[in-house]
This record gives sequence, structure tokens and C-alpha cells, in this order.
Amino acid sequence: MTNTHKDLHIVILAAGKGTRMKSEISKVMHPLAGLPMIGHVIKTANSLKPHCITVVTAPAQDDVKDFVAPHKIALQDKQLGTGHALKCALESLKSKTGTCLVLYGDGPLYTKTTLSTFLKNYAKSKNKLGFLGMIAANPTGYGRMILDNNQSVSAIVEEKDASAAQKKIDLCWTGVMCGDVASLRKWVGAIDNKNKAGEYYLTALPVIAAKNKSATFYDVCPEDESLGANTRGELARLEQKIQERLRGTAMENGATLLDPATTYFSHDTKIGKDVLIEPNVFFGPDVTIGDHCHIKAFSHIEGATLKKATVVGPFARLRPGTMLEEGAKIGNFVELKNTTLGQGSKVNHLTYVGDSKVGKGSNIGAGTITCNYDGFDKHKTTIGDGVFVGSNSTLIAPLTLKDGAYVAAGSVIAKDVSKDALAMARTRQSEKAGWAKSYREKKKKKS
Ligand code: UD1
Ligand code: MG
Repeated sequence: MTNTHKDLHIVILAAGKGTRMKSEISKVMHPLAGLPMIGHVIKTANSLKPHCITVVTAPAQDDVKDFVAPHKIALQDKQLGTGHALKCALESLKSKTGTCLVLYGDGPLYTKTTLSTFLKNYAKSKNKLGFLGMIAANPTGYGRMILDNNQSVSAIVEEKDASAAQKKIDLCWTGVMCGDVASLRKWVGAIDNKNKAGEYYLTALPVIAAKNKSATFYDVCPEDESLGANTRGELARLEQKIQERLRGTAMENGATLLDPATTYFSHDTKIGKDVLIEPNVFFGPDVTIGDHCHIKAFSHIEGATLKKATVVGPFARLRPGTMLEEGAKIGNFVELKNTTLGQGSKVNHLTYVGDSKVGKGSNIGAGTITCNYDGFDKHKTTIGDGVFVGSNSTLIAPLTLKDGAYVAAGSVIAKDVSKDALAMARTRQSEKAGWAKSYREKKKKKS
């Protein structure tokens, strides 16, 4: 390969309207595993270590422009076709040499291996143009790749322009292509719009290359990787594919998923070894799970770090800013937000702990609520080491429970509690002897 990484320029086409998504959000900004579709494409593009990435977008797509920064943007004022889109990108590309790899913003499934193999094989072919194809189970809608006797791509024919015989071809273009920057610059200028759709098609390039006595290389990849999304239904299919990959990676790295199809990962979930995940668990963005953790069924976890050997759930909710230190335990119907739970501490049932720091070996009883919000501001609760909070306690922040403190069950605690003290804040129990018996007898007489 004459091209080193520094000669690789990647162009991502993303100016299409995506009308069929019926959305105010640009098509490529719809998330898959919590990351916009185009984010997946950029991630894979970056893994090839290119010299630069240029995204072609329409002037109105501010969401795409904001997301893509600091990568380069090439604006395509009117969506006149994929050939015109590449022309816009090449105009903004300063470099005059090297290889240009073209990807689509709505094609998030290509792997690094597929793309780098394609680039390597293209370089070996010494051609100036290369197309990545696939054998489509159902070719309808794709551009068909026509080969000549030398196995060079002589043409790519769009569905609308294909003859009955061409429609039978199952070798289809994925939308991924590459070419020599200098040749592409010349050749995109020669693309016309004389086709049924009246668009400037990228698929016109093999014919233009042939006119310039240049053969066109092609390679094939698994059809699965070429899937894109034009509709919400297709978006859901892509989500499933990405989830399957993430589940596979988690298992390969040593996690056990009891029912993989019901575990939903975020693109960035980090999972250690010997982690056990029960069915129906959802991971939002920015979660790290340490070795030997056990996540029980029906838990929802986002923005949380779980150190080694923590146990969570069933039915737990961990919100952003949660940190569970080694061996901490969260039980059923417990919600934590912006809270650190110290080593070996337990919050086992029906509790909300927000904006708090809990030390080591503390126990927060069932039904405890930290009242962290006064309608205007959030306040902090600090709970020391070895603290015991009795069930059904209300902790009104800002508040500190010092090391070794006890809170009697059912208390409403609004003042700090000293080290090793017992705080009791509830009405004292009184008893009326025989009251219940006489009450029952009175009621019986009346009926
Ligand atoms: C394209 C190919 C087809 C191939 C298929 C694979 C052409 C003419 N056809 O068809 O051979 O089998 O991909 O999916 O290329 N875009 C722009 N500006 C435009 C038009 C499109 O940036 O003016 C972008 C879109 O945002 C999209 C990509 O280019 O990311 C592909 O465009 P699309 O209209 O979806 O082409 P297909 O009909 O899929
Ligand atoms: Mg498409």
C-alpha cells in the first residue's frame, strides 16, 4: 500500500433528509445503543487512524454539525445525489493525494476489520477505484454491480435503471467505496444526472474510470454489515444487531448473561470478569462494572461505577453519579443518584438516596428517604462509617450522621447526629390498657 494512514481521508455522506424517519432529528442522529448512528460510523472511521474525517451534511442540519465537531464539515446545499455529495467533500479537502474512503452516515455496522481489509486489498490491486459489495439475499433497491471478464466492475446500475436481467444480479453495492484522491477529483466532475431519478450518482464512477482506462476493484463483505436505516423499523433492526455484538463482547470478556437477549448495553458499557447479569437489565451510558459483580433481574443502571463484587437488584435503579465501593449491596426498589456508597455498605430495600456520601460498613434500613431537594436547591447528606439508619427514616439534607451513629426507625432527622449517638425523632409510644377490647364490644352492641 502506497498509502500510509496519513494518506487516508475518510468522507462520511450524511446530507440525506431521512424523510421516512418522520422525525425532527436528522436521520444519522438517531441513537443506537445510546450513541447517534453517525457516532458509530465516526468511531469505526477513527479506528482506521485516518489523516482526516470529513462529514457531508446539509446546511439546516445543526444537530449533525454540532455532534460531528471538531471533524470537518462539507456543506451540500442541495441534495443532488451521492456523486454530488462526494464532490462537495473533495472541494473542501485540501490534500491532493492519498486514498479517499467513502462511508455513509446511516451505515453504522461496518467493522474495523472489514474496512481495513477492503483498503488493503484495494491497495494491492493497484487500481484507482474500489467498491465494497455484498451478496444480497434480497437485492431489490440496491445498486447491482456488473463485472467484466477481468473481474473489474464495469458499471453499477441502480434499481430504477436496471433491466430485468440486471435485476437478477445479487452482487450489490454496499455504499462503501474508495479511490485515489487525485483521480476522484477529476472523475466526480464528469458525473452527470442522466438517469431516471435525475441525480448525480456515485455509481457512475466505474464507467468514468473505464473511459480513463482504469479498472475498478471490488471486494465483498457480509451483508449484515451493510445494513442501514431509513425507517424506525430498520432502526430497531440495527439496534438489535448492535446489541448482539455488545452482548457477544461482554461474554467473550468473561461476563455471564443468563438471558443475553434481555440485557441492553450502551455503546460504552465497561464490564469486568466473572460478572453475573440476570435477565432484563438495562445499561444507560457511562457505566463501569467491576469484576465479580452480580446484577440481579430488572435493574436500570446509568452513569454509575460499580467496584468489585458489588450486588445490585433485583429492581434497582442507579442514576448518574452513583459509585458503589467494593462489596456494597443495593437491594430491591432502591434508587441511588449522585451518591457514593462505601465499602461493604448496604441499602437493601425500598429506599431513595440522593446527593449523598455513605461511608464503610453502614446499613440504611428499608424505606429510608434522603430529602435532598427543597424545591430550589439540592443538598448533601453525609453518612459516616458503621452508621445504622433504622427503617422508614426521613433524612432532611443538608445533614451529617457521624461515624457509628444510630437513627431510630421512623425518625425524621433534621439535625446532625454525633459520633456513636442514637437519634430518635418520633412521638413516644403510649398505651391504653384494654382499650381495644372495650372498643370492639361497644361496636358489636351497636350492630
Ligand atoms: C446508495 C447507492 C446504491 C447502494 C446503496 C446501499 C447511489 C446512487 N446508490 O443508494 O447503489 O446499493 O446506497 O445502501 O449512490 N447523501 C448525501 N447527499 C445526497 C444524497 C445522499 O449526503 O445528495 C447521503 C445520504 O445521507 C446517505 C447516503 O448518501 O447517507 C446514501 O444515500 P441514499 O439516498 O440513501 O442512497 P441509496 O438509495 O441507499
Ligand atoms: Mg440508503
